[in-house]
Amino acid sequence: MIVIKSEHELKLMREAGKVCAEIFKGLEDLIKPGISTKDIDDYVEAVTKKHGMRAAEKGYCGYPASVCTSVNDEVVHGIPSKKRKLQEGDIVSCDLVIENKGYMADACRTYPVGTVDDEAKRLMETAEKAFFEGIKYAKVGYRLRDVSKAVQKTVEDEGFGVIRDFVGHGIGTEMHEDPQIPNYVCPGPNPRLQKGMTLCIEPMITEGDWEVEVLEDDWTAVTIDGGWAAHYENTIVITDGEPEIITL
Ligand code: MF3
Ligand code: CO
Repeated sequence: MIVIKSEHELKLMREAGKVCAEIFKGLEDLIKPGISTKDIDDYVEAVTKKHGMRAAEKGYCGYPASVCTSVNDEVVHGIPSKKRKLQEGDIVSCDLVIENKGYMADACRTYPVGTVDDEAKRLMETAEKAFFEGIKYAKVGYRLRDVSKAVQKTVEDEGFGVIRDFVGHGIGTEMHEDPQIPNYVCPGPNPRLQKGMTLCIEPMITEGDWEVEVLEDDWTAVTIDGGWAAHYENTIVITDGEPEIITL
């Protein structure tokens, strides 16, 4: 069941989305060679607390941190650690969920660490571009698979792979609500988009093959072929007209 949100609910989600955006802005300055992924976690925790909100990933299915920090060939769910120092040329995806009075916003950005090579740049740009191509169809009058199809085409036209094992989702009082939103075309529910739906559109893409495995920490998903990955996500609201992006 896809939950349609009221104006009051949307207001709480927008407030959470603003905090996501503030954190992403701050991370632009923080992320440099030599910092650890734990420094990113501390920053997310501090800004979230300052606003009286909660980082909803902490404790979710036992996840131990306030943000997922996935470096290079790590696709999603990398766990922040003091020991993981970022190096010049790395890329790091920072995926976070902020909860405001029970309502959530979820977003991710992939950052370059210092100067990165052209292939890594193109990978990050393509994840972002795929999001914006996808949301051209995030309107009343289209169906969910129209979004998935546009995301997949954008990524594959660049010669990159689309992750199959993780998908976008609805969001609200739960981090993951219906519908599931694959970044590729596959059989399954294909609902019409309706005003008041709140959706996380999140292309997760790789340089090479889309197959992933989970490391022994039971969280970190890495590509099997070692290709690097990028991830770009926003929470959006379906409206009468253009989608509203609340985490930008
Ligand atoms: N933020 C992720 C998403 O985009 C979910 C992270 S799972 C967690 O859906 F356990 F790390 F919180
Ligand atoms: Co998400």
